[in-house]
Amino acid sequence: VNHLLGIKYLKKQDLDLIFDTAAHFKEVINRPIKKVPSLRDVTIANIFFENSTRTKLSFELAQKRLSADVISFSAAQSSVKKGETLIDTVNNILSMKVDMVVMRHSHAGAAHFLAKNVNATIINAGDGAHEHPTQALLDSFTIKEKLGEVAGKKIVIVGDILHSRVALSNIFALKMQGAEVKVCGPKTLIPKHIESLGVTVEPNLAKALHWCDVANVLRVQNERLDVNYFPSTREYAQQYGITSELLETLNKEIVIMHPGPINRGVELTSEVADSSHSVILEQVENGVAVRMAVIYLLASKLK
Ligand code: CP
Repeated sequence: VNHLLGIKYLKKQDLDLIFDTAAHFKEVINRPIKKVPSLRDVTIANIFFENSTRTKLSFELAQKRLSADVISFSAAQSSVKKGETLIDTVNNILSMKVDMVVMRHSHAGAAHFLAKNVNATIINAGDGAHEHPTQALLDSFTIKEKLGEVAGKKIVIVGDILHSRVALSNIFALKMQGAEVKVCGPKTLIPKHIESLGVTVEPNLAKALHWCDVANVLRVQNERLDVNYFPSTREYAQQYGITSELLETLNKEIVIMHPGPINRGVELTSEVADSSHSVILEQVENGVAVRMAVIYLLASKLK
């Protein structure tokens, strides 16, 4: 594997290697000196055509902790706004002797397109509603840390499955590791043939939460929704918003995850997001170690 385009293209042993390597790097970044010199000879460009807080900063920090040279690019402040194409943009960046490109783009398949057309290692940092592989890797790493393993665990992915690259990458990763997976959300936000991926649909949030060990709660992607889409934000919050009162009815502890950014009061109340059930900031912390592992393993193939 010379790129990370999606979880779909990985095998269970690839995931295990990434998690073992990430566990090592998590230990490293908790030391007083958080850096290792491993990638002093590697140059990486982060190219973001869509907004990001966590993924962009996490990749940058992971690269710096590995001592790589890093350049970061936001399309909004670039010559893309003057009409420069994706291939021209990337080839111009690569001619500055860049080895690896981390890209986020609003179009599904953009990372594949780049991998086919330019001479660099490509990491997909999210392509439209397709895949967000490093998010799924950090989610599984966090579940393993919390519950010991992913195999046999009951995971429900709640919310806007239809527009979610996080959902698809998580489904691939969780099924590959032997988890039981349900999706839960309004019918209009569940893809028609989702069962073909080996998951089941549970439209009732209370039933889904009673069943699960972990609820991975997704953001309602207002930017990808038609304004007339059912349900409205208020209806969504009433039927699919997770509240402390609902969690109290379960009579058991479940783990609450969310990839961020949170629409507080819509998918989760603030009380739930900030409660002891929530591992949201642990996911973000683990993201740096997981991305260090991915970059380190791919860079080893450049040498
Ligand atoms: N989880 C995630 O992808 O967050 P950002 O959009 O802030 O990168």
